[in-house]
Amino acid sequence: MTELQDRILVQEHLAHEKEAPTLSESEAADLKQRIKAELEKQDAVLVAHYYTDPLIQELAEETGGCVSDSLEMARFGSQHPASTLVVAGVRFMGETAKILNPEKRILMPTLEATCSLDVGCPADEFRAFCDQHPDRTVVVYANTSAAVKARADWVVTSSCAEDIVGHLDAGGEKILWAPDKHLGEYIRQSTGADMLLWDGSCIVHEEFKGLGLQDLRAADPEAAVLAHPESPAPVVEQADVVGSTSKLIEAVSRLPNETFIVATDTGIFHKMQQQAPHKTLIPAPTAGEGATCRSCAHCPWMAMNGLDNLLAALQSGDQEVEVEEQERQQALKPLQRMLDFTARRNLSVVGNA
Ligand code: 13P
Ligand code: SF4
Repeated sequence: MTELQDRILVQEHLAHEKEAPTLSESEAADLKQRIKAELEKQDAVLVAHYYTDPLIQELAEETGGCVSDSLEMARFGSQHPASTLVVAGVRFMGETAKILNPEKRILMPTLEATCSLDVGCPADEFRAFCDQHPDRTVVVYANTSAAVKARADWVVTSSCAEDIVGHLDAGGEKILWAPDKHLGEYIRQSTGADMLLWDGSCIVHEEFKGLGLQDLRAADPEAAVLAHPESPAPVVEQADVVGSTSKLIEAVSRLPNETFIVATDTGIFHKMQQQAPHKTLIPAPTAGEGATCRSCAHCPWMAMNGLDNLLAALQSGDQEVEVEEQERQQALKPLQRMLDFTARRNLSVVGNA
């Protein structure tokens, strides 16, 4: 897929994007009460990503659910006894929950919430790419469809990608990596592995700019820079800490710095600020005008999750994630491989779970 085709596909998906409405305090309180009652009545638990609305994160914590990165979301959902998982995040997170837990009902506030990495890696093109390189071990990022996972040997998230690729490289394996080219390049450099990269990117992280960051650092030399590895190399190269959302949150509490420049979705500020209330957080500079992303530094699809559609999904049950059974079984193998690997290595992640 060319970059232009990729952008057109992403724009088509963005056309359906509808940000959750802003709620008054009393509206939010009322919705929270009603959701709590539904969760209990339906034996359901809420599993939310750090980029979602703080109101959803609070609700997950208040009801014994989980707020975490994508690896821990997958683990938590599998280990929790509830018969329904309500996944607040983006589509691949709901699909991952279904692949791992076919017996559970998986609901999402909206099934329209996708991810530009998923959109930019259509399964048929991806399969053809893999077929052209049969000598390579196929490693895909979790931000992909069930169909793409079904063609992979391994699934990874940003919490464990380096360890898994490092392990494969040590065993002499050559890697075909998809879809995020920035994360792939970062791992290629850190592990030295032989990696062939798919040309995909995250529209949110893609907009962080190295030059703007340089200026900001010059203005505040004491600030530490935190970057998610989906950011482009000129940003990652300037970072003091590079890693998954959970690793970046942990860094804010651990490092002595008072100020942090953060190159990832600003939804993460809620948890950072909760854990380190006296620290100052500054969003890393983006391209601003003319950027692909409609709401820079905030994922437009994560923003589709709100209390209103979460309640509606519980009431109607119509935003249920389904994965075709044969595809599910195929996708389970590389996903389970990741979970087994991280359990063996005891790769712990930070969430409230
Ligand atoms: P994490 O696995 O680090 O939470 O990242 C998920 C994601 O979509 C980042 O954009
Ligand atoms: Fe996908 Fe980027 Fe949104 Fe994460 S922030 S879900 S990678 S589009």
